[in-house]
Amino acid sequence: MAAPRRKKARIAETAGKCQQQVLFPETNIFIVDRKMTKARHDFLQALARRKGFAVCDQYGSGVTHIIAEDLSTDQVMEYFQKKGVTSLYPGQELLTMEWFTRSMEEKRPIHCTDSLRLRPSQAAVPVATESIAEPMPKYECQRITRLKHHNHRFTTALALLEEHAGYLQSGKQDSRALAFRKAACSLKALHHPLTNIEEARKLPHIGRHSLEVIQDILEDGFSREVQDICDGDFYETMQLFTGIFGVGATTARKWYETGFRTLDDIRNDSTLSLKRDQKIGLDLYQDLNTPVSLAEADIIQDLVNSEVQKLQPGATVVLTGGFRRGKTEGHDVDLLISHPTEGKETGLLSAVLARLRGKDLLAYETMSANTYDPSSVSKKEYTLDHFERCFSIFKLDKSLISSTQNAKPTSESPAGVVQQGTSNPDRPHQGEEVSLERAGGTASFSEGDKTAEKTWVGRRVDLIIAPASQYAYALVGWTGSKHFNRSLRLYADHERNMKLTSHVLYDTVKHQYLPASSEEDVFHHLQLPYREPAERNC
Ligand code: UTP
Ligand code: MN
Repeated sequence: MAAPRRKKARIAETAGKCQQQVLFPETNIFIVDRKMTKARHDFLQALARRKGFAVCDQYGSGVTHIIAEDLSTDQVMEYFQKKGVTSLYPGQELLTMEWFTRSMEEKRPIHCTDSLRLRPSQAAVPVATESIAEPMPKYECQRITRLKHHNHRFTTALALLEEHAGYLQSGKQDSRALAFRKAACSLKALHHPLTNIEEARKLPHIGRHSLEVIQDILEDGFSREVQDICDGDFYETMQLFTGIFGVGATTARKWYETGFRTLDDIRNDSTLSLKRDQKIGLDLYQDLNTPVSLAEADIIQDLVNSEVQKLQPGATVVLTGGFRRGKTEGHDVDLLISHPTEGKETGLLSAVLARLRGKDLLAYETMSANTYDPSSVSKKEYTLDHFERCFSIFKLDKSLISSTQNAKPTSESPAGVVQQGTSNPDRPHQGEEVSLERAGGTASFSEGDKTAEKTWVGRRVDLIIAPASQYAYALVGWTGSKHFNRSLRLYADHERNMKLTSHVLYDTVKHQYLPASSEEDVFHHLQLPYREPAERNC
C-alpha cells in the first residue's frame, strides 16, 4: 500500500507516550508479542493505555490478563518457556485478541468466558466452513448478525470512526457516520475473519474510506486514522461530555470549542445555564456511565412489574432493547408495557409512575404523551415513535444489587471509576437534549443524594406503553438494534411498498394496515425470514 514508511515513523514516535490514568487497577494486561509485528504490539499497548488499562511491558506476577493473537495455549507456554517462565501464576487468564478488542470497544475489561480463553492447540480452533461464495444480502435485516462475530478487529475501529464522525457533524445528515456503521455491519455478518482486501471489496456497503481503514488494519495491524483520533483531545472530551445525561453532540461540541475539557470545567462555569436533566447528569455522572447489568435490569423489571400488576392484573412488562438481543450490559433499561386487552393500558403509565414516586424510586422523570396519529404513516415523520412514554432515572437500592448472585466482580466495574462515554459502541450519540428539553422533566433529588454515601445507584429506565394492536410492531421496534430497524424500514419501503413503524405496517399499494399478533407475523408480512432478537445485532 502507499507510503507505509511515513506511517511507521509516526507510530514509533507516538507509541510510548500514551500512559494515562489507570481506570481498572485490578486488570493488568500483558500482550504476547509472538506472531505480531512490533508496530502492532506497540499500537495495542498504547491503545489499551489510552483507554485506561494498565499494561505491563514485562511478564510477572502482577499480570492478570495475558493476551495472544492467533496462538494456542500450548504455543503461548512454549513462548514463555523460551523466556525462562515454566508456569504461570495462579489466576492469570490466557485470552484471545477478541477479549482485548471487545474490552477496548466497551471501554472496560469484559468478563472472561470460555469462548474468550485460548484453546489448547491450534487444531481446536474452529475453522469457518460456510460457503464464502454466497453473496451477502444488501439489507442488514436479511442477514444474521450476532453480538459475537469474527471481525472485531475491524469493527472496533469502524465503530470509533462512526462515533467520531457523529461528534463532528451530528444531526440527521450524518452520512459519514452511517457509512462506517454500514461497513461494520457487513463485516459483523461475515462468517469468518476477513483476511484480504479483495474480499472486503466484494461485501456490500464498504465504501472507499472504510476500505482504507480495513486495508491499514490488514497490513499494519491497526488504523493510523483511529490512532490519530485517539491521540487528540477532541474525541476524548466529546466522549466525556456526551456521557452527561441530557447532553448531545451539539452541546458537547460547543463546550469543547469554548475550551472546556473536564466535568469540573462545566460544573464551575457560572455563565452556563444547565438544564435540569444536565445538572442531574453531572451529579449522577458516575452512576449513569457505569453500564447497567442484566441482573440490575431484571430487578428494575420486577419492581415495575409488581406495581403494574397491582394496577392492572394481566398486563405485561417486557425487557426490550439490547438486553433482549442478548447483551449482558446496557446504557439503560427499556421496558415495554402492554395489556392483552386493548384499552386496558390507558392511564397505566401515570398510575405506575405515581406509585414509583410514592416509593421514592425515581430521581428524574419526563413523560411524553401518546401522539400517535394513524394518518401520519404516509407522511415523512412515520419513522418517529409516538407512544406514551417516560424517560426516567431510577434510584436502585445498592442493597438490592449486592444481594443478586450476578453482581459484577469489582474488577469489571471498580468503585470510584468514572467510565467515559457509554458502554455501547452501537450508540455513539442519541441527541437526547432535544426531547428532554421539550418535555421539561421533574426531578426528585436532594442535596444529600449528591453525596458519595447515597444508598442508591442511578439507572436510566425507559418505560413505553403500547396498546395490544400495536404490540408486535412495538416489540420489534424497541428490541432493535436501531440499525436493524432502519434496515427493516428501508426494506419494507423499497422492496415491498410498505411503511413500517413501531406502531403499524401499512401496504401503500393495497392501502391497508396489516395486523400482527407476533414478531413472526411482522417478518412474514415483509416476506423476510424470521430473525431471533440475538440475530438482530447489527
Ligand atoms: P436504546 O437506545 O436503548 O439501544 O434503544 P439499545 O440497543 O438498548 O442499547 P443499550 O444497550 O441500551 O445501549 C432500544 C431500542 O429502542 C429503539 C431503538 O431503535 C432501539 O432499537 N428506540 C429508541 C426507538 O424506537 N425510539 C426511540 O425514541 C428510542
Ligand atoms: Mn437500551
